[in-house]
Amino acid sequence: MPKAMLKINQLDAYYSGSRIISELNLTANKGAVTALIGRNGVGKSTTLKSVMGLVKTPRGKIFLDGLDIIKMSTYDRVKLGIGYVPQGRDIFPQMTVFENLTLPLVAQGRKRVAPEYIFDLFPILPQFAKRWGGDLSGGQQQQLAIARALVTEPKILILDEPTEGIQPSIIQDIGAAIRKINKEKGITVFFVEQYLDFVLEHSDALYIMEKGEILLKGNTKELEHSKIQKILS
Ligand SMILES: Nc1ncnc2c1ncn2[C@@H]1O[C@H](COP(=O)(O)OP(=O)(O)O)[C@@H](O)[C@H]1O
Ligand SMILES: [Mg+2]
Repeated sequence: MPKAMLKINQLDAYYSGSRIISELNLTANKGAVTALIGRNGVGKSTTLKSVMGLVKTPRGKIFLDGLDIIKMSTYDRVKLGIGYVPQGRDIFPQMTVFENLTLPLVAQGRKRVAPEYIFDLFPILPQFAKRWGGDLSGGQQQQLAIARALVTEPKILILDEPTEGIQPSIIQDIGAAIRKINKEKGITVFFVEQYLDFVLEHSDALYIMEKGEILLKGNTKELEHSKIQKILS
């Protein structure tokens, strides 16, 4: 049996009184790339925000590597090994690339020294270190956001729509980077997407969500594409 890096059990999530996620069960296995796909507004971001402790989750449990984290602060969850790339990337436009990149280290009271492999993964970062975050293209900002989530050396990298608003050639680079992070660094990956081709190419396991519930799940290679498309259309 593969071991779970992230396990979500019977989880409900709310925004100011309205339930967005109902009795959600989802597992991201250690060493695998797991994806969650669904149309706009079904609750994908809310699922990730639940994992990060950014929304109300009065019922259910979330385990990180066997440890129940549901009552922990976002800060503690990051410290325990979750790297989070939010939707829209949230790069600070008036900080330099270097400052953006090393911000999580400062938050943890650590030196501003990023692991060297991150610069091999994204060579534009050392090259553009002194530029303003806001001067980067969408694709470059996404690379910076992924790199920023990696500086604390997480056990699991969580990405919210990494291809959103990015030109096709850079989407390929992002996909390749995710694979490298997973295969070469052994980091478990869990990402959310709307773009089916990207999910089919870059995930091992797949969950398909509709209105806060999982309608279909399985190994990406074994799932029938027509069934997925039907839910997404
Ligand atoms: N901050 C918020 N306050 C209230 N409702 C929200 C908020 N953010 C999202 N929602 C609602 O929650 C539902 C799920 O949103 P979200 O998780 O962002 O969907 P997705 O990421 O799948 O597009 C949507 O109906 C959305 O309108
Ligand atoms: Mg979203």
